[in-house]
Amino acid sequence: MIVEPKIKGFLCITAHPEGCAANVREQIEYVKSKGAIKDSCKSVLVIGSSTGYGLASRIVSAFGCNAATVGVFFERPADTARGRPASAGWYNTVEFTKQAQAANLYAANINGDAFSDDVKKQAIEAIKKSPTGKVDLVVYSLAAPRRTDPATGEVYKSVLKTIGQERKDKSLDTDKGEVVEVTVPVANEREIFETVKVMGGDDWELWIKALDEAGVLSEGCTSLAYSYIGPELTYPIYRSGTIGMAKKDLEKAAERIDAILKLHRGKAFVSINKALVTQASSAIPVVPLYVSILYKVMKEKGLHEDCIRQIQRLFATQLYNDNFLDFDDDGRVRIDNLELRDDVQKEVFEIWPKVNTQNLNELTDFAGYKSEFMKLFGFGRPDVDYSKDVEI
Ligand code: NAI
Repeated sequence: MIVEPKIKGFLCITAHPEGCAANVREQIEYVKSKGAIKDSCKSVLVIGSSTGYGLASRIVSAFGCNAATVGVFFERPADTARGRPASAGWYNTVEFTKQAQAANLYAANINGDAFSDDVKKQAIEAIKKSPTGKVDLVVYSLAAPRRTDPATGEVYKSVLKTIGQERKDKSLDTDKGEVVEVTVPVANEREIFETVKVMGGDDWELWIKALDEAGVLSEGCTSLAYSYIGPELTYPIYRSGTIGMAKKDLEKAAERIDAILKLHRGKAFVSINKALVTQASSAIPVVPLYVSILYKVMKEKGLHEDCIRQIQRLFATQLYNDNFLDFDDDGRVRIDNLELRDDVQKEVFEIWPKVNTQNLNELTDFAGYKSEFMKLFGFGRPDVDYSKDVEI
């Protein structure tokens, strides 16, 4: 069938199989072009491996480090009867697996709810079947709207709200290409609690404990999770909002997980990454406008990096290749250093009050934002003929 983009709000509900496959191959080629990463991982579990930072982590592990990978994700297969394509992460994983197998790399996939005990058990079984039977790197890269507590069956929902007082701010209606004013409401105690339950460190810790109990953690095993801080401009909605509370909880969990991994002479930490267009970040108010300005400034300065460039740099210049992790005062690794450079933030800050619907294309890289967003779903690639029938 011919697959076309169908945008609903901040989501595209269709994905193009060939476009997604080409995106994955492009990322693999980039990683290969940077050369092999020495003294690196051999066997990696990526939780949230099908899109964004998790997919990039899996690609760098496999094609930069030559590692076996087990990927956990939650993606929708195609419904051929109804003519509905699969989700982008499904197609990404199909192509990743094809390329990994062609390179003789072990690649096991688990499509299911990472928060459940059952998926943890399936991942452990897949690790046991891998060449080393253990993992030496566990990447936690989930971005989820809800979580069912495996112990109680209770369902928690995350919200993107402020804490303390509501916030009126500029945002971007990405559908219409309009700068709008949004009011981000205040979360109540329960909403804060539930957001922390979903996006905090609870589940990461459960994963590490389950892997430890199953005896599948290698000596020297490292675990890392991704977080965001950003500039003060986005603090009310991000760092000081509900999602920020969850991320602080994730950072606290890193200390507890570090203590578990120390017993295996390993370590755990949180890496603070750059703001990028992903399925998760496009849902956050204010952030798409900030990202459009940031892209413009960083591209003009030759500093722009996407997920694969960020993660390749993390692995090649900090985690491995005989390098040391460069921790900040709070024990976090900062690959957001280029985003937060004074000259970058000064320019973003100068543009922010001036930007409106009329000058959006002139003052920001909204065009870049949109094309990157469409690319997430496999659309807008010059090397794909979208008028051709494809097998979904
Ligand atoms: P994404 O939406 O591209 O990827 C999320 C992944 O989680 C996908 O593989 C998805 O299948 C998986 N997933 C979601 N719910 C699941 C479930 N219940 N069970 C199993 N898998 C599930 O998100 P993105 O942006 O790559 O985010 C990953 C992490 O990076 C998040 O912790 C996010 O906060 C962090 N981060 C993102 C930044 C950004 O600008 N996009 C910046 C800095 C950090």
